[in-house]
Amino acid sequence: MNKFPTFFIDNSFSDKTLCEKILNRMKFTVSTSFDNSDIIISSKRSYDDKICIFFEKQNRVVISNSSDFTAIEDSKIFNLIELSILKSTFLFYDNNVYNLYDLKDRYRNKISKFLQALVVTMEVEDKDTNMSHSQRVAFYSEEFSKFLGKDDDEIKKIKELAMLHDIGRIGIEQLMLFTPTRINDFETWDLEHTVTGSIFLSSIDELWFSVPVVRSHHEFWNGTGYPDGLSGEEIPYYARYIGLIDWFDIATHTATSEYEGILSPQQAIDFISNNSGILFDPILANKFVEFINNFLEKNKFV
Ligand SMILES: [Fe+2]
Ligand SMILES: [Fe+2]
Repeated sequence: MNKFPTFFIDNSFSDKTLCEKILNRMKFTVSTSFDNSDIIISSKRSYDDKICIFFEKQNRVVISNSSDFTAIEDSKIFNLIELSILKSTFLFYDNNVYNLYDLKDRYRNKISKFLQALVVTMEVEDKDTNMSHSQRVAFYSEEFSKFLGKDDDEIKKIKELAMLHDIGRIGIEQLMLFTPTRINDFETWDLEHTVTGSIFLSSIDELWFSVPVVRSHHEFWNGTGYPDGLSGEEIPYYARYIGLIDWFDIATHTATSEYEGILSPQQAIDFISNNSGILFDPILANKFVEFINNFLEKNKFV
């Protein structure tokens, strides 16, 4: 096959003008006829006989033909369109696709895995379970997500967010090693880890999706949390999600002045129940209580 594929953008696609510009810049032909085109760009997946780039949401795209189906996500719509076009072109020429997305995802994963390893190195591991704070938050996040029936992609994403949520602690812990008043400063500086972490991650394009969780996982539903005093649904969903599990883990493993010592799992569950709709998202808190009671009936507390 020698000719370049011709694209058709159907009217359901909201970024049609932007997409046309990108296609032109890449020297592809955009046709006004569906029949004479090879690759269709759409927001409604209704074409079976041609390669279709289906933009499911602003940041998620599915490319399909009869034999291949790939879903990808990206934080920047521009990159996403550009990559989708390239990927579908490879698909057009040869079903043995050289997968650009996998390449990009592998690169992103490497950065993420490196930072996750750094988080674990910095944290204290529990001797019985060999898990550190972020690993436990990731563990319960995964179990809770399964309980809620979330799909594999979302569970993977939530686990990654859980592993990265305290990334801002890295610098803080280092600072504490060099201060004579480390105990006093600990609590003050700890409040800063959300801001430090979000500034740090905002410099890494590939991990932008985790910035809201890193910044807002200590916000409370009633607006009494930090660093921005957000309340209710102003707090990003995954920040509320990870924040709740984070709270549970801190309360049951770490003695802080805030909770006057370590709580038993049952005390922590009662606290979450009593503060559903006050400190915690009521829907998530109620579901979590149901989940954790269920979990602890059959499994050992970690
Ligand atoms: Fe935190
Ligand atoms: Fe945490």
